[in-house]
Amino acid sequence: MKVLFVTPECYPLVKTGGLADVTGALPLALAPFGVESRVLLPAYPGVRDKLTGARKVATLPDLFGGTGALVAGRTADGLQVWLVEAPHLFARTGGGPYLDANGHDWPDNHLRFGALSWVGAEIAAGRLGGWQPELVHLHDWQAALVAGYLHFDRSARPDPPTLLTIHNLAFQGLFGMAELASLRLPPTALDSDGMEYWGNLSFLKAGVRWSDHLSTVSPTYAREILTPGQGMGFDGLLRERQHELTGIANGIDVTVWNPLTDHALTTPYSVRRLPAKAANKAALQAQLGLPVRPDAPLFCVVSRLTTQKGLDLLVAALPRLVARGGQLAVLGAGDRWLEDSFRHAAHEHPEHVAVTIGYDEPLSHRLQAGADAIIVPSRFEPCGLTQLYGLRYGTLPVVARVGGLADTVIDANEAALRDGVATGFQFSPVEVDPLAVALERACELFADTVAWQRVVKRAMTRDVSWSVAAGAYLDLYQRLLATRLPDTSPHPAFT
Ligand code: ADP
Ligand code: GLC
Repeated sequence: MKVLFVTPECYPLVKTGGLADVTGALPLALAPFGVESRVLLPAYPGVRDKLTGARKVATLPDLFGGTGALVAGRTADGLQVWLVEAPHLFARTGGGPYLDANGHDWPDNHLRFGALSWVGAEIAAGRLGGWQPELVHLHDWQAALVAGYLHFDRSARPDPPTLLTIHNLAFQGLFGMAELASLRLPPTALDSDGMEYWGNLSFLKAGVRWSDHLSTVSPTYAREILTPGQGMGFDGLLRERQHELTGIANGIDVTVWNPLTDHALTTPYSVRRLPAKAANKAALQAQLGLPVRPDAPLFCVVSRLTTQKGLDLLVAALPRLVARGGQLAVLGAGDRWLEDSFRHAAHEHPEHVAVTIGYDEPLSHRLQAGADAIIVPSRFEPCGLTQLYGLRYGTLPVVARVGGLADTVIDANEAALRDGVATGFQFSPVEVDPLAVALERACELFADTVAWQRVVKRAMTRDVSWSVAAGAYLDLYQRLLATRLPDTSPHPAFT
């Protein structure tokens, strides 16, 4: 089966969060099932240089205000990548793929990701690059317009089904209605049952309306987004399609995240060589300027610093962690007020809190290896990957009971401890006091070395690889393909 992934990010080429980890790993995990994937993304600065065998496969003479090219290449892991090379849209340095140097959205993001989607639709229709996918897998609003272009141009034969995976409903791709013409979509696209959304146009709504199927990245988030409380204004639209919405929890790349082979670590370790984890803790404490104390429970955070992640609650709960002798190491970047709160906390508690503001992939690995626990107090979390890295590294997750966090961590309550199934700590509701209580529970269990080690071993032996999720995606792909009968009229309804 041939599948085209369309995405704005892909690890190790360009990453701002978990979306990149997913689109970098899932195609590789699908390969053993006979899925031949290609990943289409923009050629941001430096991306082409990370590919081997990069070569132009098509010219794009009129790509939304300039000339572009389609470039094919491979990553070191053998991922087949296609780049939309369009200097007028993507050859810019700023604050990552979406933002200018001042942290504002690029004003022409509709054109940038409209162009990505348009190229995706051309490939899907078999008109570009000499390779036609049998199915197109779209990721987030930046790719969602592929479904719009295919909806209005039904000439593709065969007509590949589209699956839109929503990684985060908070990002809806909203732009002024006047932008429609520049996106080469007909005026009817803005009908209220089209992509019009409260006086704007929404790329995400185009995907929700016109993709053949929708998925999101955990079963619990798939249920949550059907409710007004978590649906972010899209719950009504999603309820209309709830029978075509599937929740599949993410896995992680267990070769990139393997404490036995991870080059970022001071000392490799595994579940059978667990004492070596302590060397990573000591090295991390020393590197961060924290007292090197094996008996102090060391908590970490690796996160974007935004309201979603609930880290303001952690700032408020911090005195109770400090009172228990806990240490906290934070790595993150994002909203200025949160960065400042953590800087302030480090200043107040220099013996207990170390904060690194920035994005640092190797340090994120060292934190996962050296800490005893990782805190993820998100207000909502479609899946979350850092708690999965925590499980793999024996760094017990302390998580809010929402979304994928609820699905992937088993709370160390009495019954779960007795049955030997606990892997971390959950709290609910997502407020300061329940978080502080969970942190205190973690400190208590940490003091009981034997009990703690038992939970660590259980966490490390949980299967967090992509194999389960890849099988679920394959099933879904096959169901979608089965709805496409050869030579029928375009887009038969999927049931
Ligand atoms: P989200 O995609 O919402 O940010 P996830 O938990 O799914 O949340 O994925 C976050 C990814 O980004 C993980 O791979 C995490 O290790 C990484 N990450 C987040 N912040 C940083 C940072 N400051 N430095 C390095 N890696 C980070
Ligand atoms: C989004 C979500 C996160 C999820 C990631 C990958 O960024 O916020 O929960 O793990 O996508 O699917």
